[in-house]
Amino acid sequence: MTIQEAIKARHSVRKYTDRAIEADKVATINEAVGRINAASGLNIQLVLDEPRSFSSGMWKYGQFSGVRNYFVMAGPKGDESEEKIGYYGEELVLLAQTLGLNSCWVGLTYKKIPGTYTLRDGDIVHCVISLGYGANQGVQHPLKPMEQFYEASEAVPEWFKAGMDAALLAPTAINQQKFKFILRDGDQVEARPLFSMAGYTRIDLGIVKYHFEVGAGIENFKWAE
Ligand SMILES: Cc1cc2nc3c(=O)[nH]c(=O)nc-3n(C[C@H](O)[C@H](O)[C@H](O)COP(=O)(O)O)c2cc1C
Repeated sequence: MTIQEAIKARHSVRKYTDRAIEADKVATINEAVGRINAASGLNIQLVLDEPRSFSSGMWKYGQFSGVRNYFVMAGPKGDESEEKIGYYGEELVLLAQTLGLNSCWVGLTYKKIPGTYTLRDGDIVHCVISLGYGANQGVQHPLKPMEQFYEASEAVPEWFKAGMDAALLAPTAINQQKFKFILRDGDQVEARPLFSMAGYTRIDLGIVKYHFEVGAGIENFKWAE
């Protein structure tokens, strides 16, 4: 499965079977985590076979069941770091999808289990991403017309539409899709977060930028500030 195919196949999966992730897949994922941490300054960690973070105790953890593996998405505070969490986390989500694994970004409904991960000075846990073999493949979120999500002074090229198609398939917190893409001067693309009471818009922005790059082809445009 290519990354483009993974973008179409991926949906949030909240129920998992107890099938363990094979050692070769764990090695592939951990190799990517190491490369990403070195490039980004993030402190992402894969926690395996740890059911307590999502076990229902005092209250039910959303619609999750059977979660035993997850990425702890740790790193410095701030907007820039949050965008990186989204961007690189989605790279891992799509890598996992190509390996036949399912996932779900989780901002709220998990418990931090001390001793299962480490934080450096200044790091916080931004969110987690569940990982494993799904009991189902999830469902496609409703798709909206792409025109609601971009501005351009002229007709947009095919590569831009392909980027928007991929961006609209991206996961966002509570499916809020609070972002706008702006095309300028033929090949300059700005991606802007919009306001949301729910927050998470910088993480969402990083996620949708990763999807846009895959869909549009990074050789076709430059990110504008
Ligand atoms: C930053 C972020 C946080 C999320 N937090 C939660 C969460 O706490 N609980 C949950 O069930 N889903 C959570 N989700 C999953 C979204 O609800 C889901 O991505 C969205 O509804 C779109 O559905 P899809 O991922 O199947 O395309 C989160 C997604 C993102 C990107």
